[in-house]
Amino acid sequence: MREYLESNPQIKYILFGGKGGLGKTTLSTATAYWLAKNEKKVVVFSTDPQASLTDIFETKIFGKGEVEMAPNLYALEIDADKRIEEYQEEIRQKIRDMYGVTEIPEECEDYIKSSAAEPAMAESATFDAMVQLMTTGGYNNYIFDMMPHGHAVRFLGMAEILDTWVNKIVETRKKAGEYGDVASVLSGKGGLAEEDQMLNELEFIRSRLDFVSKMMRDKTHTAFFYVLIPELMPILDTKKALEMFSAFNIPLSGIIVNQVYPVELLEQPNVPAFLRNRIAMQQGYMKTIDEEFGPLIRGVVPMFDREPKGLEMISRVAESLFR
Ligand SMILES: Nc1ncnc2c1ncn2[C@@H]1O[C@H](COP(=O)(O)OP(=O)(O)O)[C@@H](O)[C@H]1O
Ligand SMILES: [Mg+2]
Repeated sequence: MREYLESNPQIKYILFGGKGGLGKTTLSTATAYWLAKNEKKVVVFSTDPQASLTDIFETKIFGKGEVEMAPNLYALEIDADKRIEEYQEEIRQKIRDMYGVTEIPEECEDYIKSSAAEPAMAESATFDAMVQLMTTGGYNNYIFDMMPHGHAVRFLGMAEILDTWVNKIVETRKKAGEYGDVASVLSGKGGLAEEDQMLNELEFIRSRLDFVSKMMRDKTHTAFFYVLIPELMPILDTKKALEMFSAFNIPLSGIIVNQVYPVELLEQPNVPAFLRNRIAMQQGYMKTIDEEFGPLIRGVVPMFDREPKGLEMISRVAESLFR
């Protein structure tokens, strides 16, 4: 990790992806900690709906904005549900404004309510918050503890779909423009102006998606690390993820192997068979990882004897990650 960041000094955004429970939050926080120690002003942002930064810092930061945890080290955990509620209210207000109604028609209300259950809504809210942070934050580094990869990648796919969609609408709109005056007279209250407002809305959504999608593909400023542990399922998952990323042209900066039982334990007297077997199993998978992803390995972090929580433990993780 140290080598990677030192030889890519322009890296500004660092993302951690991978399945849940393997160490994204832990390694994101450790990375933020290390950069902060190295004189960078850093924010670590969790996009996980679970209150994970609150856990690791042992401080309630959920929904509280950017909170300073140590000198130069800030943490941000957004309340996606609250954002979704704000969205919904915005949509209601727009409907009221556009159509000059005071009551939201029942069908619209049903639709607005059901949209909150869409996973894409939470992702959209998260990406919104990310873009807002990146464009206004003023940090040297932004560390993103990402939601499980499937969602993030699918969302990027949406950027392309939305692109096509917006282009179609713009085209149609241009054609309609020739009849614009007639249309607005016919509709009685500026039909095209309403259409434009919707178009603006789509353009706005598209610009945010584009921002994230460009950021994720920009190898100079962005590093994307994938976390796994030496077990079969995570290895298979990582292989699949790598294929998915390359299909979406998202470069991967490396993988980090976490929760590795220290082999030195075997040198102690009376090692229980249970532990010996676990270590042997992990070492077998370490070999597989080496064969599959060798040149991509950026770090190997040991399994600690307790959950890394609190700054003291975070600093220990950082030490081994940036050895
Ligand atoms: N190297 C490690 N040693 C011991 N426990 C770890 C290690 N890395 C992560 N953990 C613990 O494993 C759990 C999952 O880690 P976490 O970073 O929250 O994963 P994710 O964010 O990917 O879901 C947490 O309880 C965390 O404290
Ligand atoms: Mg997490």
